[in-house]
Amino acid sequence: MILVTCASGKTGIAIVGALVAAGHQVRAMVKTKSSLEGVKKTGVKEALVGDLAVIEDVLRATENIELVYYIAPNMDPNEQLNGKNMITACQIQKVSRLVFHSVLHTQIEALPHHWERHFVEQSILNAKIPFTILQVGSYMQNMLPAWGQMVKTGIHRMAYDVDAPMSLVDLDDVSEAAVKVLTDDNYTNGIFEIAGPIISLKQKALILSEVLKIEVSAEKEALDDFLKHAQSLGFSDFTLSMMSKMFPYYDENGLVGCDKTLGWILGRSPTSFETFARRTAASFS
Ligand SMILES: NC(=O)c1ccc[n+]([C@@H]2O[C@H](COP(=O)([O-])OP(=O)(O)OC[C@H]3O[C@@H](n4cnc5c(N)ncnc54)[C@H](OP(=O)(O)O)[C@@H]3O)[C@@H](O)[C@H]2O)c1
Repeated sequence: MILVTCASGKTGIAIVGALVAAGHQVRAMVKTKSSLEGVKKTGVKEALVGDLAVIEDVLRATENIELVYYIAPNMDPNEQLNGKNMITACQIQKVSRLVFHSVLHTQIEALPHHWERHFVEQSILNAKIPFTILQVGSYMQNMLPAWGQMVKTGIHRMAYDVDAPMSLVDLDDVSEAAVKVLTDDNYTNGIFEIAGPIISLKQKALILSEVLKIEVSAEKEALDDFLKHAQSLGFSDFTLSMMSKMFPYYDENGLVGCDKTLGWILGRSPTSFETFARRTAASFS
């Protein structure tokens, strides 16, 4: 049985879906009871409610589990505590391997939510348990909530510079790679960068224009406007403070990795933004 944490989120649903489709038995962990129903529809064998910050909950979640796919909550003030609990539980329950869904470039101190994760990675390295770490880039799918608005207005808007280079990765590729890594012990003790091809907002807008047959232009949303909107949607002060550091960093540096490792794991080239855009446009029509 494979435990997937944060199973009801954007990442979790995709990973669980890929594992179930490949015939694996999955136990899904979510934080809130209301998320259980959605996650059960994915065909998981078991689902439970628990808080990663509470060791008793993590011990319960890892009972009789062979493999753990540890997705951590996004931008969480308890990043290190959650990680420590998961490592302790894997040691106590003698889990055969812990696979950590981390982020690209945890070495960047200017991105506190990456930097905090750097310490979790260090703890995994020192935990004397079999592990694999996947350092995952930003998903192409992050633009999906605004897809309809983009088609309506012809503006592809994000809160960072339109020329910033980003190694965007297709979440479907990430899920396919995660299944391979989880089910093949030869990936034990490895740290793998899971990044897609480099692209800017401006380049995406050109591709979107061609695919959608409308004129799409790239626009940077002012950080203050973005944060006000995010606040109105109920994002916590902690998350807002992380985002207020992340976007200026992207302005200056983008977030780039190399897509060769993902290509090697998949046995094919990672999905291009154009392929993703065509697939998404077809699914909306
Ligand atoms: N988005 C990206 O582009 C990207 C790229 C690379 C890596 N990642 C990483 O992927 C991870 C997930 O990101 P996401 O965007 O998929 O997140 P998300 O959609 O916000 O998912 C949130 C999930 O976390 C669960 N959760 C939150 N706090 C929890 C806690 N204390 N204990 C147990 N479960 C808890 C939620 O459960 P409920 O539904 O019950 O509240 C939900 O299942 C993050 O670590 C992020 O850094 C994201």
